[in-house]
Amino acid sequence: MGIFSKDIMTMEDLFIHGLRDIYYAEQQITKALPKMIDLATNRDLGTGLRNHLEETKKQIERLDQVFAKLGEKPSGTTCPAIDGIIKEADETAGEVADKAVLDAAIVANCQSVEHYEISRYGTLIAWAEELGRDEVVRLLTDNLNEEKAANTKLNTVALRKGVNTKASAA
Ligand SMILES: [Fe+2]
Ligand SMILES: [Fe+2]
Repeated sequence: MGIFSKDIMTMEDLFIHGLRDIYYAEQQITKALPKMIDLATNRDLGTGLRNHLEETKKQIERLDQVFAKLGEKPSGTTCPAIDGIIKEADETAGEVADKAVLDAAIVANCQSVEHYEISRYGTLIAWAEELGRDEVVRLLTDNLNEEKAANTKLNTVALRKGVNTKASAA
């Protein structure tokens, strides 16, 4: 958005802006996840993050399809929210000395990312429906469902696959 002009005039503009925001966010997530995968010690956590990295790449392809269906060029716009969440995750990762505690920190930080994505996709689906853009609702819903599943898997890893227990014993 420019300083001297307001680029978002209509709900349609706001919708496209939201798509560009999540497009940028998904790309930053594909860059950040490999670092988290390298740092993870718990096997279930590592596997879960690797699977979600592959899902994230497919989510970007779905967003490409969304832009195509809307007749828009796929492009991202800087999303300070995801940049902040990733920055904080990197900073904590650098500050946690114990490997088991680091796993608990990685789960928590990844859940922040998933919750951000869940809120964004939820909004975009509601706006797409309101704007009569039914052709993109399915694609956005597929992404939303993967984010929800990823968040649930992180819960399982933390609570039932030993991450929190081991971290607390460290
Ligand atoms: Fe995603
Ligand atoms: Fe995600």
